[in-house]
Amino acid sequence: MKTTSQFPHARPRRNRKADWARRLVRETELSVNDLILPLIVHDQGGGPQSIASMPNVLRHSLIGAIEQAKMAADIGIPMIAIFPHISEGKKDAVGSEALNPNGLIPNIIKQIKAKVPNIGVMCDVALDPYTNHGHDGVIDEVGYMLNDDTLNILVKQALLQAEAGADVIAPSDMCDGRIGAIRRELEANGHCNTQIMAYAAKYASAFYGPYRDAIGSKGALKGDKKTYQMDPQNTNEALIEVALDIDEGADMLLVKPGMPYLDILATIKREFGRPTFAFQVSGEYAMLEAAILNGWLDGTRVRMEALQCFKRAGADGIISYWAMEAAKELTRPK
Ligand code: PBG
Repeated sequence: MKTTSQFPHARPRRNRKADWARRLVRETELSVNDLILPLIVHDQGGGPQSIASMPNVLRHSLIGAIEQAKMAADIGIPMIAIFPHISEGKKDAVGSEALNPNGLIPNIIKQIKAKVPNIGVMCDVALDPYTNHGHDGVIDEVGYMLNDDTLNILVKQALLQAEAGADVIAPSDMCDGRIGAIRRELEANGHCNTQIMAYAAKYASAFYGPYRDAIGSKGALKGDKKTYQMDPQNTNEALIEVALDIDEGADMLLVKPGMPYLDILATIKREFGRPTFAFQVSGEYAMLEAAILNGWLDGTRVRMEALQCFKRAGADGIISYWAMEAAKELTRPK
């Protein structure tokens, strides 16, 4: 970029002199259409449950989740993403409950699709909410996650979700070949319009800590996820993952975590030009929300700025625990 003249000809502040002028030259803009609301749902009966490390985020009952989906649709949020908190008694080594056609997730998908027709429903494909060891798939005796054995289960989990009516399947497991395997299974069973949002660049991050609290997999997790999720110090590896996922049939890409990985998001958007989303994960939420609750940060401004930065970096949309708050702010009459 070449600048042609110097001060006083060039006074960049001229374009910032008033609100109307700033609006006129604004390069990117966050809208309610960019927001995806994550909903954590539990199978324990009764009302909503609080999550210690995620203040103001609740685990919802079935009825609560339907109400949330309705509110999200009414304010214009295009999609929700559902995550299950499964009772300990239903967990086992291979995550069998993930394949229960009458389980929590298929049930919630059906109810929301029936009662809230104008919102997209996205579902995670991974076994960590269902396994008693907290890993995303099947592990061997030394705790290594077995790729192809896991794939065999994930394709069934994805098909079950599609059959229940899920609009977008979001594999978050980082197994090799999963997008292709799931795409083939969906096509073979007539679900040619079910989209896949691939967690293409998913890092082995400590920022997921509060989420594991939220879905109840924290205490159980043995070891870490570094043999399947990526090293936070790598960029080229993310590009390889994205290229493979596109080849295998991904419709949309997801980068995760969000704010510490904006460089990865920007690079992927620039290199591939595909619909690319960011997941502002639980740890990002927890650290900012804690500071907001302490009065150290201005909540409204910080939430909006954090989300706007994703747009500037090139995101087409953002999964955010603040989606409702942001949607209210964005639709508030000025
Ligand atoms: C499961 C999954 C995780 C998240 C979304 N899906 C956790 C993990 O991979 O350990 C994290 C979401 C968040 O931190 O908000 N595979």
